[in-house]
Amino acid sequence: MGVFATTDDPGSTGHEQVVFCQDKQSGLKAIIGIYSTALGPALGGTRFYPYASEADALADVLDLSRGMAYKNALANLDLGGGKAVIWGDPEQLKSEALLRAYGRFVESLNGRYYTACDVGTYVADMDVIARETRYVTGRSVEHGGAGDSSILTAWGVYQGMRAAAEHVWGSPTLSGRRVGVAGLGKVGKYLTAHLLEDGAEVVATDVNPRAQEWVRATHPQVTLVDDTAALVASDIDVYAPCALGGALNDDTVPVLRAKVVTGAANNQLAHAGIEKVLADRGILYTPDYVVNAGGVIQVADEIEGFNFDRAKLRATRIFDTTREILRLADDEGVPPAVAADRLAERRMAEVGRLRAIHLR
Ligand SMILES: NC(=O)c1ccc[n+]([C@@H]2O[C@H](COP(=O)([O-])OP(=O)(O)OC[C@H]3O[C@@H](n4cnc5c(N)ncnc54)[C@H](O)[C@@H]3O)[C@@H](O)[C@H]2O)c1
Repeated sequence: MGVFATTDDPGSTGHEQVVFCQDKQSGLKAIIGIYSTALGPALGGTRFYPYASEADALADVLDLSRGMAYKNALANLDLGGGKAVIWGDPEQLKSEALLRAYGRFVESLNGRYYTACDVGTYVADMDVIARETRYVTGRSVEHGGAGDSSILTAWGVYQGMRAAAEHVWGSPTLSGRRVGVAGLGKVGKYLTAHLLEDGAEVVATDVNPRAQEWVRATHPQVTLVDDTAALVASDIDVYAPCALGGALNDDTVPVLRAKVVTGAANNQLAHAGIEKVLADRGILYTPDYVVNAGGVIQVADEIEGFNFDRAKLRATRIFDTTREILRLADDEGVPPAVAADRLAERRMAEVGRLRAIHLR
């Protein structure tokens, strides 16, 4: 076991701790980034991805772990923000030995960091990692895990959308609104069902023919359009990006006809400044990391011993958090993304400060 060289200066980013982990025999090269433990142990998933370089892996973990601190703070969790990356192709590298070696590194942090699933890692992998560490969530139902996190992710997105509807149209319902859902994957499917149940009209798109068939068979009242370009240009009231990141970019925002954007996809804003363009066009954007926190709320609940009803109640509160952010944005004359950051920073500072009250 050893340490491989850094190519950046993590000290300049405000992270508490960045740990480089290596096990030559199994091929493990991982970086665990802990941005903040002000609110509790850092929680965030492990991304297993064939980065082009160590610098790319480092940049991603620094960025993602910071994002988790803000997401967890606004989800009202007693958890800080962290994330890990395993550098390599999961198809070729993933093995019991590699995952268990990684688990030992997680254990060595003594609970400062809890891991979970992310791109390239699955529930079954968490069960393997758990053979070496207690600090793992996102486990299988047989092992007390929370199961499919997209259930509460979709529920939370729906709550955020209700709060946005109340802000714009005066009533927290999507009834009678046309909602455009881009991406009918795990989250998009559940979200579509909630919207239809609420009385919304759903227009949707997905590149995958199986997803298209699913919606035709399950919800024939949904209108399918060819692609995202057609969706954003159509006469919709709400746009729900539920596929990949960067949905709000220089191509989509100028033509978007929706008054509200609320969706599950991570990193929807393609670049800094696009939130201002949205605001200038009178489009209300509910920050992605606020409304898609239902998934992390679901897996975080495992730490207490998973209880679906309790986790759902917490995810339901995304309605109140979104409402508070929208009010703060109005009061302070800033876009909701800026208001959300301020609220998260305030909670980290105010609650994190309490550790100065010495207990023993
Ligand atoms: N699953 C969760 O609990 C969770 C939690 C937080 C955030 N998210 C984010 O929400 C998004 C959706 O997650 P998911 O779990 O449903 O993923 P998924 O892979 O199950 O679904 C994504 C869907 O988008 C479709 N898609 C891809 N490119 C597209 C395009 N250009 N146009 C239209 N459709 C396209 C895919 O075919 C797929 O059906 C992702 O950005 C994910 O990071 C998910």
